[in-house]
Amino acid sequence: MAAKFVVRGGNRLSGTVTIGGAKNSALPIVTAAALAAEGESILENVPDNSDIQHLCKILEALGCRVERVAETTLRIQAQHLENHVAPYHLARRLRGSTYVMGLLLARLGRGEVACPGGCEIGARPVDFHLKGFRALGADVVVEHGAMVSQKVNLRGGRFYVDRASVGTTVNMIITAALTPGVTVLENAACEPEIVDLANFINAMGGRVRGAGTNTVRIEGVDRLCGARHEIIPDRIEAGTYMLMTAAAGGEVVLENVIPEHLGTVIAKLVEAGQEVEEHGDTIRVKARPIRAVDVETQVYPGFPTDLQSPWVALMGLADGISVVQETIFENRFGFTNELIRMGAKIKVDRNTGIIRGVPRYTGAPVEARDIRGGAALVTAALAAEGVTEVSGVRYIDRGYTRMEEKLSALGADIRRVDNGCEK
Ligand code: UD1
Repeated sequence: MAAKFVVRGGNRLSGTVTIGGAKNSALPIVTAAALAAEGESILENVPDNSDIQHLCKILEALGCRVERVAETTLRIQAQHLENHVAPYHLARRLRGSTYVMGLLLARLGRGEVACPGGCEIGARPVDFHLKGFRALGADVVVEHGAMVSQKVNLRGGRFYVDRASVGTTVNMIITAALTPGVTVLENAACEPEIVDLANFINAMGGRVRGAGTNTVRIEGVDRLCGARHEIIPDRIEAGTYMLMTAAAGGEVVLENVIPEHLGTVIAKLVEAGQEVEEHGDTIRVKARPIRAVDVETQVYPGFPTDLQSPWVALMGLADGISVVQETIFENRFGFTNELIRMGAKIKVDRNTGIIRGVPRYTGAPVEARDIRGGAALVTAALAAEGVTEVSGVRYIDRGYTRMEEKLSALGADIRRVDNGCEK
C-alpha cells in the first residue's frame, strides 16, 4: 500500500515555516553542475524531494559523483561523465530529465534519454526541446521511447522558443553553454528559475546574458569549472503555504522567501481579503474571510499555473463565485473531481473552472494524481470538517519536502501513513 496523508481538519495554522530551495531551479542547476569538466560544484539550499533524488541517480549512472554533504547541500564532480545513455527507468520518471539530454549533447555531443513522464496535467510533449536541439545541429530522433542523438558537432544558432516554454529555455541554455558560437533565444521564458540557472552557469565561467528577459544570448565557452551556488527559495512552495494558511485560518510567517517572486500571488491574496505583509526575506499571512477572486494563469510574472490548484481549493471556500482560467496546461483541473467529493461546487468547461464558494468542506478519501493537485487536496483537508485521507502522496513528495512535518509544526493534525504504518 502506498503512502497517504491522514488529515483531521479544523486546526488553525500558526507559527513559522522555512521555505526550501526551488525544485524547478534545482533540477536545471544540478544538471548544469555536470557541465563542468573541472573542479567541483557545491550547491546549497537544494531541496531533498524525490525528483531531485532521481536526477542525482541519473547523474551518477552517467559517471558523475554526487554527494549530499549536508541536509540541503550537494557536492557534484563531473570530470568522469563518460556514459551517454541515461538509465531508462529513472529518466522516464521526471520531466526534468529532458535537461539531461541537453547536458549530454553539450558534454559528449550525443545522448540517449528516455522521454520524460512526470505529472498527468496535459500531454507535455518534448517537441519544442527537440526543435531546439536540432537548431543547434543535433540530429535527435525519438526511438523506442527515448530521445536519441548520434555524435555531432553542435554550433550556436538563433531559436524562437514556442510558448515561452520554461523547460525548452532551460535546455537551450544548458546545451548552448558549451556549444561553439553564439546562441540567441527569442521569446525565452523569464521565470526566476531561468535567472538562477544563468547566474550559476556564469559562476562556472559561462557567458549567458539577458536571462529574465525574453531574449537570452549564450556565448559557448570551451570549458566550465565547478562553482558554489545557493538555489533560490521555492516560490511555489511558499505560495502553497500562503494559500493553506488562508484556507485553514490562522497566522503564519514564511521564512527564506523572495517576496518579489510572489508579487502576483500576494496581490491576488490581498484582493481575496487576506492580510499579507512582506518584510525582508519573510512574508506574514493572516487569514481573513475569503472573497471570491478571478485568476488567469500566465507565464511569469503572471499568476503561476503551479498555484492554480491550491488557489481553486481556496476559492472553493470563498464568499461568492470565482472564475479560474488555465492557459498553460490543458488538463490541470483533474483534481477538482476529488475536491467535489469534499463538497466543493466546481464546474469545469475545458480550461475554465467556475467555483461557487461553500461555507465548509467535509473530509473524504481522495486521491492526488499530480504534485499541485495533491497540494490542493491537502489545502482543502486542512480546512475540512472531519478526516480526509489523501492517497497518492508520492506525487506530493515530488515537489514538497516533508510537507506533513512542516504542517504539523504549524499546528495541523496531519499524519503520514505508509504501508499501513505511521511514519
Ligand atoms: C515547467 C515547470 C512546471 C511549470 C511549467 C510552467 C519544471 C521542471 N517544471 O514545466 O512546474 O508548471 O514550467 O511554468 O521546471 N510544451 C509543448 N512542447 C514542448 C514543451 C512544452 O507543447 O516540447 C507545452 C506544454 O505542454 C505547456 C506549455 O508548452 O502547455 C508550457 O510548458 P513549459 O513551460 O515547457 O513547462 P515545463 O518546462 O514542462
